[in-house]
Amino acid sequence: MTPVEIKKDIHWVGAVDWNIRDFHGYSTPKGTTYNSYLVLDDKVALFDTVKKPFKNALMHNIRSLIEPRKVDYLIVNHVEMDHSGCVPEIIEELQPEKVVCSAMGKKALLEHYHREDWPYEVVASGQTISLGKKNVQFLETRMIHWPDSMMSYLPEDRLLISSDGFGQHWATSQRFDDELDSHELLKHAAKYYANILLLYSPLIQKLLASVQQLGLEIDMIAPDHGLIWRAEPTRIVEAYDLWSRQQSKAKALIIYDTMWNSTEKMAYAIGDGLSREGVNFQIFNLKYAHRSDVMTEVLDAKALIFGSSTLNNGMMPTMADMLTYMKGLKPADKIGAAFGSYGWSGEAVKLISGVMEEMKIELVDPGLRVKFAPSHDDLKKCVDLGREIGLAVKAKI
Ligand code: FEO
Repeated sequence: MTPVEIKKDIHWVGAVDWNIRDFHGYSTPKGTTYNSYLVLDDKVALFDTVKKPFKNALMHNIRSLIEPRKVDYLIVNHVEMDHSGCVPEIIEELQPEKVVCSAMGKKALLEHYHREDWPYEVVASGQTISLGKKNVQFLETRMIHWPDSMMSYLPEDRLLISSDGFGQHWATSQRFDDELDSHELLKHAAKYYANILLLYSPLIQKLLASVQQLGLEIDMIAPDHGLIWRAEPTRIVEAYDLWSRQQSKAKALIIYDTMWNSTEKMAYAIGDGLSREGVNFQIFNLKYAHRSDVMTEVLDAKALIFGSSTLNNGMMPTMADMLTYMKGLKPADKIGAAFGSYGWSGEAVKLISGVMEEMKIELVDPGLRVKFAPSHDDLKKCVDLGREIGLAVKAKI
């Protein structure tokens, strides 16, 4: 992709990754972008680089605007390798006067690339450097997404270069939010939030508060992934406020895997019970649903209901995968229950309930087990469980 001027003398020079389908466990069916920004001023600054295989695309874009050796500052907002993978080669080719990063950024760069000789310039939160006509103010944003993370604010342009914050994994030829379907854009942003940032929700709340306290005037947010928010930057800020509060709707998810369809029959009967209480639900068979798509729906669901057959004294492997992934992302303030069929030992429901307790999910029911195939009475108990959860959802919303 060719460079795009996003503000006067500020250019997108990143790369589009049309083919990536897995981003450390997160499915990216529409690829992603690695955004890098070049600011042309008395001092020329490059904000972040791209994933290593895309170095030539970045260099080609820089070269089309300026002789690469004229880049004075390489600003490393974030060290994760989708942004820093080609930093060693870029430093070699650009020979920047300074590599600007946070204190944690310097530590992380050393731990990744083991280069004591780079011209590090450590900046603190609130510190400003001048490029000439433009200034750059740094905002440390630890754990959004890593300890080293920071954002860069350019006050003259009211531009926030937001690193991983406010991003989406969506490969497109367009660069701006108003050039594509806004509903799809928000879906990608929600999936990104649910799968990358959910566990840092309390820190996102603090970040939003500090942006307000600092009185930063922002009319464009340029993240390191996906589209740039120029038409409606407040829309994504408001969405982050909502998502980071982890407020749920009257919505339930029934997430299961099944050996011989008995647990599946239970899942559908639980859904019938939820329907009778007027609570909307979605059913995910983990043989077909990707963990990261389930996680996106967790964002605003109040009830999480997990079902698994017992397999070799444990739960189905897909359920173990789902629970491990979800536990790490720390969804808050949920209720739910476990269910499943078994043949003789029947440990799965107890094991799932244990993980749910570790996740601080309030158990509405100690768990429902059915031996082998559910009878009519068993399915009635499943409907009753659905109704019980539906009533609890309504009571808590
Ligand atoms: Fe896009 Fe945390 O890297």
